[in-house]
Amino acid sequence: METLGCLLRQGETAAVPTETVYGLAANALDEEACRRVFEIKGRPLIDPLIVHVTGMAKAEELSFPPDAARRLARRFWPGPLTMVMRKKPAVPDLVTAGLPTVAIRAPRHPLIRELMRRSGLALAAPSANPFGCLSPTSARMVRDMLGGRVRHLLDGGPCEIGIESTIVDLTNAAVPSLLRPGAVTREMLEETLETEIVFTEKFFRPVAGTAAPAPGMMERHYSPRTPLFLFNHGGTAPRPPGGRAATVYFRRPPERPPGGGRDCYWLTEAGDMEEAARNVFALLGKLDRGAYTAILAEAAPDEGIGAAINDRLRRAARPAAE
Ligand code: TXA
Ligand code: MG
Repeated sequence: METLGCLLRQGETAAVPTETVYGLAANALDEEACRRVFEIKGRPLIDPLIVHVTGMAKAEELSFPPDAARRLARRFWPGPLTMVMRKKPAVPDLVTAGLPTVAIRAPRHPLIRELMRRSGLALAAPSANPFGCLSPTSARMVRDMLGGRVRHLLDGGPCEIGIESTIVDLTNAAVPSLLRPGAVTREMLEETLETEIVFTEKFFRPVAGTAAPAPGMMERHYSPRTPLFLFNHGGTAPRPPGGRAATVYFRRPPERPPGGGRDCYWLTEAGDMEEAARNVFALLGKLDRGAYTAILAEAAPDEGIGAAINDRLRRAARPAAE
């Protein structure tokens, strides 16, 4: 840990665990180190990074947190909540893709916290996957996806949450907006701030009049090689277009489904929403490596973290080229 902290201070990068997904970390104030993070991921420079800190004191060195940010941090930090706020000059433009704002989160996984505490660094860390791939939820997934491209990998076991953090934009503090749903739900944010939060669904959407998306609007998503079809929670799986389809139910079906249950999978045994979130990326990755011609996925109930699971499934159901 001590050594890894030194290496990061010297400008190296490392894959590290967080409670959401594994991140590919570099000193957030070291522009060259952060540039390597973009290179290793094959990530376009217009897609800004999330900066990880130990808490509000460090966040204040990098940004101007409004009152709303302090309230949210008191309730949800350390934890799976990222806040977009006006940035201070200390943060390199490369990290924020030239935006006047920076996305900051205090993760709660003990290993990344220990690393930040010992090194004194804020760590810029996007998910540790090649651009456009699934976010890794175990050290094994990081190794499989980035292989020799990461020299240092801190194994913190499987991720407790399994989907990326909630992102809330507080740039206009009067009108907070949800950029990405996660384990901290919209209802939880609204209750804490006592105000309505708008959800701007952020797919890869070109801005009118330009060929490319604006910085920060480039939420590219994982689309499996195998076409994925989403069906309503409690509904019937659509007929696959031929070939061999895998069906992913939200919870284990009480009876054997037609076909004897072959090629039948589920996100949770008994309907536990947290368990479903933990499994979703690992299962999609596994099925995509299998010999299936289609994946039929049942939506989660649209409540709590279910909204975030459905957001990821909807993105996976979109063709990669979109
Ligand atoms: O759970 C997580 O948030 C994980 C772990 C490693 O902490 N990190 C993660 O990072 O998911 P990444 O890079 O895969 O997603 C970061 C997204 C960007 O794609 C962008 O949409 C948004 O955060 N973002 C970052 N800075 C922003 C900004 N200044 N304004 C708007 N959106 C921003
Ligand atoms: Mg990512």
